[in-house]
Amino acid sequence: MTRHFISFTDLNREEHLHVLERSAYLKAERAAGRYLHQHLAGRGVGMIFNKHSTRTRVSFKCGISELGGHAVFLNEGETQFSRGEPISHSARVLSRYLSALVVRTYAQANLEDLAKFGSIPIINALTDEGHPCQILTDIFTTMEKFPGDPLEKIRIAWVGDGNNMANSWLEAAMILGFPLNLACPEGYDPDPFILKAAQAANPSVKLMRDPKEAVKGAWAVNTDVWASMGQESEKAAREKAFQDVYLVDSALMALADPKAVFLHCLPAHPGEEVTEEVLESPASVIFDQAENRLHAQKGLMEFLIPKI
Ligand code: CP
Ligand code: NVA
Repeated sequence: MTRHFISFTDLNREEHLHVLERSAYLKAERAAGRYLHQHLAGRGVGMIFNKHSTRTRVSFKCGISELGGHAVFLNEGETQFSRGEPISHSARVLSRYLSALVVRTYAQANLEDLAKFGSIPIINALTDEGHPCQILTDIFTTMEKFPGDPLEKIRIAWVGDGNNMANSWLEAAMILGFPLNLACPEGYDPDPFILKAAQAANPSVKLMRDPKEAVKGAWAVNTDVWASMGQESEKAAREKAFQDVYLVDSALMALADPKAVFLHCLPAHPGEEVTEEVLESPASVIFDQAENRLHAQKGLMEFLIPKI
């Protein structure tokens, strides 16, 4: 059976814990100078990016190379995708050459169609609905910061938009069972179906309006931009709904657990959703997160892509 990572729930708890453990091993190996684990030796992984990206693009490309494979960038405008070739054809054609497809786009349904018609793993590199590779990495990073503590003890607080990141946090809390508070402004809640499923599976998942309440006792405080890619036209309305309240500053961080770390997937807008002071504070682990994308995605690809 072909395995995919379109949503965080595509892997069960044991599989996620296995990937996290493997990622830590690959990170340690790389630190010791052993870069090349030949899981993908000689094989190609397709990369489709219909939205901007720095971290995801580069970390996947380097990760694929470090596993012995090579990334094949498929610019929509240069392929037959943009000329209307049916996705049912493209998916089957690409499955004959490639070992997996990493896709960043708008509608998650496009990834589901690729999975339905193709026969290689489809990896969600961000959609309007989710950003599971980022959340996998953020869990990896948080566990790394609290070694020895079980994941179930790590309290996560989300402050801001109920966006793709928030949806994937909900799915992660549903699968892995850690406490999660989300503080979102009215009208900007996460996907109601994902929220309902997460709360049914994990009663310590809570949605609220007040960031001060959400961060109380949190071990990790996470925020993201007020307007995501594709929402540029909503910028002014969103600023009105978010400003002054959905902002992580030192006063808000002081309400979290004293050992709390600050997470941001980046890119950040310093002075909007988070202050420069918090971004540059000792609690901030934003660049470790960015680095860990590489390690976590290597662990994930090793799991999803069968070795030949
Ligand atoms: N965090 C993240 O996905 O960054 P990029 O948009 O740069 O890939
Ligand atoms: N929520 C953001 C995340 C960027 C990595 C976006 O979708 O633009």
